[in-house]
Amino acid sequence: MQRAKISAEFSKNNLLVSSEGFEKIIKEKIDVAKVILAAKEKNVWLVTDEFLQEFVVEPPKEEKEEKVEIIRKGRDIPAKDIEADIKIDTDSDVTGKSTSEGVIENFVEYFNQKYTELARILRGRPNLRDATLIKNVSDAAPVSVIGMVLAKRESKRGFRFLDIEDPSGQLTVLISQDKDHLVRIYDSTVTDEVIGVSGRMHKDLLIAEEIMQPDIPVNHKPNTAEEDVCLACLSDMHVGSYLFLEKEFNSFLKWLAGDGNRNDLSGRIKYITIAGDLVDGIGIYPNQEYDLALPDIYKQYDMLGRFLERIPDYIEVIIAPGNHDAVRRAEPEPQLPRDICAPLYDLSNVHMVGNPARVKLHGVDTLVYHGDSMDSLISGIGTLSYSKPETAMIEYLKRRHLAPVYNDIAPETKDYMVIKEVPDIFHCGHVHANGYTIYRGVHVINSGTWQGQTKYQERQGHMPTPARLPVMNLENHEVTVLHFGG
Ligand SMILES: [Fe+2]
Repeated sequence: MQRAKISAEFSKNNLLVSSEGFEKIIKEKIDVAKVILAAKEKNVWLVTDEFLQEFVVEPPKEEKEEKVEIIRKGRDIPAKDIEADIKIDTDSDVTGKSTSEGVIENFVEYFNQKYTELARILRGRPNLRDATLIKNVSDAAPVSVIGMVLAKRESKRGFRFLDIEDPSGQLTVLISQDKDHLVRIYDSTVTDEVIGVSGRMHKDLLIAEEIMQPDIPVNHKPNTAEEDVCLACLSDMHVGSYLFLEKEFNSFLKWLAGDGNRNDLSGRIKYITIAGDLVDGIGIYPNQEYDLALPDIYKQYDMLGRFLERIPDYIEVIIAPGNHDAVRRAEPEPQLPRDICAPLYDLSNVHMVGNPARVKLHGVDTLVYHGDSMDSLISGIGTLSYSKPETAMIEYLKRRHLAPVYNDIAPETKDYMVIKEVPDIFHCGHVHANGYTIYRGVHVINSGTWQGQTKYQERQGHMPTPARLPVMNLENHEVTVLHFGG
């Protein structure tokens, strides 16, 4: 409205407008008709700046776009700010190096390798330093030999015999029934393991005075990280099985992202090792198709990929295969194949390793092995059971070998199953039961499973311990097992 017109309107209605009021009407574009009506109703003759205030129309507020960040109150994520320090030992990984053709020469070479490596470790013991070859043993003096166990047997009179062999020949060791400690060792001896024996020859028999396993030093001092970070151990998810515990695994992933309690641990997790059986696979055992929710190996890894992509990317994930995965059945097994497992290779924080594998995390030497050979170990040693996998894992360390009993091992020119160096952490899966112990300074961890009880396990009377997550602090070596079960 023009100034003259405004002025004329007020004067026509016998109203005066203050000069500030006039300016306000112009500036705020006040509706003059409304002002005149109100002034008449209120018997106001002077329209002031103050009177006009109620007619000022506030402009609508502009919408401001603001990115909303959901900050979990009080949650510290130290692992996010700590740089990853991960060294994968490629020498101990068979990937791309398999030369085995399964011919007799390969087997001869494999057993020679196994013997040589384990004999070298045994010779480190003072009383085996001068161990002689079997062909050189004589009746004259005390003698020590190192041999691979071919067979064990007992006589009706209670004598126990071990037939052993080295590259030069064979020998029978006699264990007298009155030597309790030797009887105990005999009971836990399995075929194909390499032992040292000291004793005296009597006719064709070596009368054992002492039997020694390679073992690890009594006081192994494990390496510790300088940073306050944690390792979480997973295995045996069996994605694709209708018994895969999706709800519980989801709880674990949500916990990693900050939900729930023990945020002091979730925020420190920098590494996850997965010791095989990521998916249930196809054709692993007879009639498996009846146990599968996803009867397609590609879809199984695809589904797994969709779970693992939810792991925060500052956490490094080290993946080894197991006997249900898409790799050869014979150990040592190479890394998962890129074509079938593309969704896993697409994840920037995933590191593929073979089975077994060796990886240093902030200097803490970790041996990851699925544990396929635990079946033969448990059936070969009466004191072992599926419910206490950590005790079976100790037997690997005593023998410094991941397949003491020969069973479905691919005979490579190098024996990848020898535990040459003593690890700080030994992580296995396979038996679907959690277990944790410390053996001579080595943290022995079995990460259990994320699969419910199978019919086979039910028939065997084996009770799995699903949805339990061992978490180990690499700085102070404290181990906590978290339950994600309902
Ligand atoms: Fe498994």
